[in-house]
Amino acid sequence: MPKVKFVKEKKEVEVPNGANLRQEARKAGVDVYPGIHKVLNCQGNGMCCSCRMNIKEGSDRVSKQGLWEKMWFYLNPIAFFARIGQEDNLRLSCQTTIHGDVEVESQPEFNWHGDKFWA
Ligand code: FES
Repeated sequence: MPKVKFVKEKKEVEVPNGANLRQEARKAGVDVYPGIHKVLNCQGNGMCCSCRMNIKEGSDRVSKQGLWEKMWFYLNPIAFFARIGQEDNLRLSCQTTIHGDVEVESQPEFNWHGDKFWA
């Protein structure tokens, strides 16, 4: 079974192959949502972009980003700017399934100096 390490919380859990990252994080007691989004979120439908997580290790061992997720990263201004400097690894946890060992960072900080964005 794949292992998910939540680096900020220093928690590691085993999950079934194909498990949903957001659901497993919540089961593990990880605080998925920042601020007001603890109450106001889309319940895992991939539209509020508040469940962002940075895949620190093993981005090739999670599902690929689908069209729905890509679209919301462009439509939601906060998610758009949150991607700066984390274009390859920032994911919506509700739209991500796990297929191998990964390390993830919940509620990642903004990177206003992203190298790729401003290059
Ligand atoms: S819970 Fe809203 S986008 Fe993931």
